[in-house]
Amino acid sequence: MAGGKGSGFVMRPIGRVHSPYREAAQVPKGKGAEHQEEGVLEVFPRFEPGLKDIEGFSHLYVVWVFDRAAGYDLLATPPTDSRPHGVFATRSPRRPNPIGLTVVSLLRREGARLHVRGVDMLDGTPILDLKPYLSSVPAEELRRGWLAEVGA
Ligand SMILES: C[S@@+](CC[C@H](N)C(=O)[O-])C[C@H]1O[C@@H](n2cnc3c(N)ncnc32)[C@H](O)[C@@H]1O
Repeated sequence: MAGGKGSGFVMRPIGRVHSPYREAAQVPKGKGAEHQEEGVLEVFPRFEPGLKDIEGFSHLYVVWVFDRAAGYDLLATPPTDSRPHGVFATRSPRRPNPIGLTVVSLLRREGARLHVRGVDMLDGTPILDLKPYLSSVPAEELRRGWLAEVGA
């Protein structure tokens, strides 16, 4: 997976997302946007053994690639606010390393196909990794930064 010393990293997808969204405009955005759409995470056959015991988890982190974003901006103005914020204080697709992270609920597993709810990825999006979601941060300790100011 990783290249030699000093050569950076090469990652290959472990699967792809099947989503109802064909284009960015279809994905709910902005204040109060909810991601309740169902989709399927298709894991490629050679990685299927890596799914053993995943059924026991209610939620998963999906690490994926913004494969239809080009370039990046270090300041981003999200749809929820008129002020620019540092890209690392946002979830903008236009980032130096175009990595997306989504928490989905796992509805069921059919072999190498995971049926999930909560997709915000476009159809065909490459998946880099899956991990069980285990939140250990108490709600009262979470701070929502600029998002709290815009009420999102
Ligand atoms: C604001 S980003 C957040 C994505 C993820 N939850 C995250 O935090 O990294 C969600 C937007 O990414 C865009 N998007 C989804 N899949 C994409 C892809 N494969 N390539 C480029 N943009 C994508 C859609 O426009 C969607 O509204």
